[in-house]
Amino acid sequence: MEVRREIILCLLMTITMGCYKVEGREPVLHRVGGGRYTWTPKTNFTNWASHENFYKGDWLYFGFDKLRYNVLEVNKTNYENCIDKNFIRNITKGGRDVVQLLEARTYYFLCGRGFCSQGMKMAIKVVEPTLQPSPSTLSNKALHSTRIINTKLIMFLVTVLIMDVCVI
Ligand SMILES: *[C@@H]1O[C@H](CO)[C@@H](O)[C@H](O)[C@H]1NC(C)=O
Ligand SMILES: *[C@@H]1O[C@H](CO)[C@@H](O)[C@H](O)[C@H]1NC(C)=O
Ligand SMILES: *[C@@H]1O[C@H](CO)[C@@H](O)[C@H](O)[C@H]1NC(C)=O
Repeated sequence: MEVRREIILCLLMTITMGCYKVEGREPVLHRVGGGRYTWTPKTNFTNWASHENFYKGDWLYFGFDKLRYNVLEVNKTNYENCIDKNFIRNITKGGRDVVQLLEARTYYFLCGRGFCSQGMKMAIKVVEPTLQPSPSTLSNKALHSTRIINTKLIMFLVTVLIMDVCVI
């Protein structure tokens, strides 16, 4: 029984390590709103962002009609009050615009021209890739993460790690 418990523990640990190794390395491009042209008032960005994990170095992609909408990075106060004056950065270029999240902090984006109050605003929390999440959020993150694409690679890593760690 003891041996079995140890093996299960080992398995859990190696799976976790394997996932985070893969997660920590490559920056991910997050399509804001989930689609190609989803920077629109129809999208619930709070809901979308709550299912994503943003790590330092990741990218955001905003797809939108540049004649109608824009993308501005603002501070917390202006985000909360939908103020598009005194913005920090203008992300708008051609309507298929990207921005890299270079700092571990909360970023605030909104659309000017009155669309912020129609829901076109988004706050996202960016964390360090090396940050170890608490065990309670682990299964959730592993399940929802769009990073875990290459299942085969992870299985390979897990196998290698199990051989290393467990079979001594
Ligand atoms: C957006 O989604 C969040 C979280 O799922 C929810 O609490 C909120 O009521 C939604 N907002 C709108 C305007 O539907
Ligand atoms: C945000 O910017 C506005 C205008 O520049 C300023 O009045 C406000 O104090 C700033 N808020 C924060 C949290 O930095
Ligand atoms: C943001 O930049 C775009 C492209 O340079 C420009 O057309 C637009 O007027 C700018 N928006 C604001 C609010 O400054």
